[in-house]
Amino acid sequence: MSIQTAADNSVRETFLPYALPSIGEEEIVEVVDSLRSGWITTGPKVKRFELDFAEYVDSKHAIAVNSCTAGLHIALTALGIGPDDEVIVPTFTFCSTANVVVHLGARPVLVDVGQDFNVTPEAIEAAITPRTKAIVPVHYSGQACDLETIYALAARYNLPVVEDAAHAVGATYNGHKIGSDALPLSLLGRRGQGVRVITVFSFYAIKNMTTGEGGMITTADDALAEHMRLLTLHGMSRDAWKRYTSAGSWYYEVVLPGYKDNMTDIQAALGIHQLRRLDDFITTRQRYARLYDEAFADLQEVETPVVRSDRNHVYHLYVVRLEPDRLAIDRAQFIEALKAHNIGASVHFIPVHLHPFYQERFGYRRGDLPQAEIIYDRIVSLPLYPRMTEADVHDVIQAVRHIVTTNRR
Ligand SMILES: Cc1ncc(COP(=O)(O)O)c(C=O)c1O
Repeated sequence: MSIQTAADNSVRETFLPYALPSIGEEEIVEVVDSLRSGWITTGPKVKRFELDFAEYVDSKHAIAVNSCTAGLHIALTALGIGPDDEVIVPTFTFCSTANVVVHLGARPVLVDVGQDFNVTPEAIEAAITPRTKAIVPVHYSGQACDLETIYALAARYNLPVVEDAAHAVGATYNGHKIGSDALPLSLLGRRGQGVRVITVFSFYAIKNMTTGEGGMITTADDALAEHMRLLTLHGMSRDAWKRYTSAGSWYYEVVLPGYKDNMTDIQAALGIHQLRRLDDFITTRQRYARLYDEAFADLQEVETPVVRSDRNHVYHLYVVRLEPDRLAIDRAQFIEALKAHNIGASVHFIPVHLHPFYQERFGYRRGDLPQAEIIYDRIVSLPLYPRMTEADVHDVIQAVRHIVTTNRR
């Protein structure tokens, strides 16, 4: 059967990339200011960015790092995860969520997800063993997981929660931002006091806000925060970065073997201004998501994302599921057809348990986590970012509708 791609009849003349960052004049001026100042690595702008971020999500501590991956690694290290330990991770995530567990010599216990693409509390509870040392939920695509039930499990089994909030900066659950210290208490009452939570965000180039590369760790826990801060910079005693200022001293002590995961002032210069623009970015993402939802509502071949009414979805990703029984083309051909219309698309994610390393090292096989597999086989991430114009969104809509209506089974 020939596939209808409309190659000679493309919706767009110019290519619409799958994603692009939105960098404004303020960010550029602030970066140039850092470059001219002579202070280009960790310094006053990182401090300011940390304080601004802590205030934005309502957390006592915010520790800037050079990626979310580094932040996840630091969080698990500070929790003492090591050989023979197990850490529960959804399989439907980017590889780094699981890779960091492997770096510590521990075993990532991969679990399945539900129809909203997020890990289910049932899957987490079924995976808990005496070796389990932490739960790592991922707020997939910018929509929070079922935190109330996950925190209740954490309280019952006395397990810390490390939230992978790479997609979820600005997202809320029960009226509180992801990363807010108020969340466990507001959800569980006094039982929430005992739940240790560390949240890690990503500021990778195409995330909802960016520092080029970068991340932020938040927590309410003073001791964990102190430990994690040391881990970000060689384990050197407090404020070692000041040692080249007039306020500093050449003397420092290494109190543990830390890493080199600190954020630079050049990155923070971007972050300070991106954070100020974040709420507007989110509003635009949500508006474009609504346009997609409405435009595809009558297409039985395309299922739009499941949105939970008790949480604020910030749409880092807009992921549709194709209905294979209703289409004469598969997912790869669908993405090729979008490309022929000059539109980029992507797939988030290949489940971790399908990657060769995880199959060889831990014995995972296709069939082990069926919901994530069914989802993976059908998903396409459409372009959704504030730098797109509304006309761009309508081009994507037109292209998707054309591909679907000309390739019906
Ligand atoms: C779910 C998830 N976790 C972690 C990461 C890693 O983020 P970073 O690139 O900042 O290390 C990503 C990045 O794409 C991600 O999507």
